[in-house]
Amino acid sequence: MEVIIQPASEAASVKAAQIIGDLVRRKPQAVLGLATGSTPVGLYRELIRMHREEGLDFSRVTTFNLDEYVGISPEHPASYHRFMKENLFDHVNIPAANIHIPDGNTPDVPEFCDRYEAQIRAAGGIDIQVLGIGHDGHIGFNEATSSLASRTRIKTLTKATLSANQRFFSESEIVPHHVITMGVGTIMESRTCLMIAFGKGKALAVAAMAEGPVTAMCPASVLQLHRQTILIVDPPAASLLTRTEYYQHVYANKPDFQKVSAFPISSATIS
Ligand code: PGA
Repeated sequence: MEVIIQPASEAASVKAAQIIGDLVRRKPQAVLGLATGSTPVGLYRELIRMHREEGLDFSRVTTFNLDEYVGISPEHPASYHRFMKENLFDHVNIPAANIHIPDGNTPDVPEFCDRYEAQIRAAGGIDIQVLGIGHDGHIGFNEATSSLASRTRIKTLTKATLSANQRFFSESEIVPHHVITMGVGTIMESRTCLMIAFGKGKALAVAAMAEGPVTAMCPASVLQLHRQTILIVDPPAASLLTRTEYYQHVYANKPDFQKVSAFPISSATIS
């Protein structure tokens, strides 16, 4: 795992956007796995800026989002369909036909989930999966104790996640208890996992993910078994890591060939 500590969340978002922009320039038909929540908003803002000011072209890009609530309309202010439209899709040129977000209103959840997995495979797999991390170490909506081999499926949210996400719903509304989420196993098949985390509130989860044991109690910790995970954090989120000095030393002394691009994409992925 590569741990990159940036001076502030803004710089961390820009760094993450550079990694994605670099991929899209090198592989215009890139397949991006996208995340919602507060964390990736700055990353999407920077991608929009790169599209507008630098001509970053998304016209051949395909996207798959991690998750969606079950039973709320795509227009609902808290739906992840709406979030993605407002924070990215309305502002860049990804063709609508190339955008995939789990359908929380599907009449047949298992069939939908199988189809979602098949669509990811048919697209050639995900090149970069953007990830946030929950306070308990969840990725996507894979709560603690999720199977580390799980695939796209329905999940029931924990009380902690329900209350963390209440802020996106009006006071009188109940946060849906069920979601459709890519599984941990699905995420693990992405060629690169790009996790971003900001703020003191994420410090415990970040330390458990990067330096703790691999355990279903912290689903993100399975990324230690992934061959290319990049974790970009601000100093508060990094504050409980024990090897900070080493991570900074590695980053400051990257060999030149690693500096050209933020990460090596194997030639097999550039077609
Ligand atoms: P956040 O959510 O970005 O809103 O903190 C992250 C998550 O729960 O995965």
